[in-house]
Amino acid sequence: MQVNETAKEQFRPVIVAFCCNWCSYAGADLAGSSRLNYPADVKIIRVPCSCRVNPLFILRAFERGADGVILCGCHPGDCHYSTGNYYTRRRMTLLFSMLDYMGIERERTRVEWVSAAEGAKFAATMNDFISTVAKLGENRKLRDLRCKK
Ligand code: FES
Repeated sequence: MQVNETAKEQFRPVIVAFCCNWCSYAGADLAGSSRLNYPADVKIIRVPCSCRVNPLFILRAFERGADGVILCGCHPGDCHYSTGNYYTRRRMTLLFSMLDYMGIERERTRVEWVSAAEGAKFAATMNDFISTVAKLGENRKLRDLRCKK
């Protein structure tokens, strides 16, 4: 009985991870095939390139109940489309300052460069991000009222 109550009280953040098809998604795949552990609370959305992620996607994820959003792409200079992740880097810098302005904790959003060969880095990054977001607790700002139970 006590175990069930403890399990209920334990907060498990909802994490949305946008991963580019060419590096980060392959890195996630490698983490899986290497049997590296990261929580199933990470919902991976595969995108062709990190620059495909409009900052509004991140705001929408927060609106729809995400507690943390992470954007993963190829290392700078390695983007399949040459310069896509440079655009990502600039856009996300602007988004971070906007999130600060909106009062959303900076630690709820992260950009990471993960190559296809870095399955271990992918798993470690996800574990670290989840523990950071778990410490912050539930994200109530921007939450869409229509999604409430
Ligand atoms: Fe990976 Fe552009 S294809 S960041």
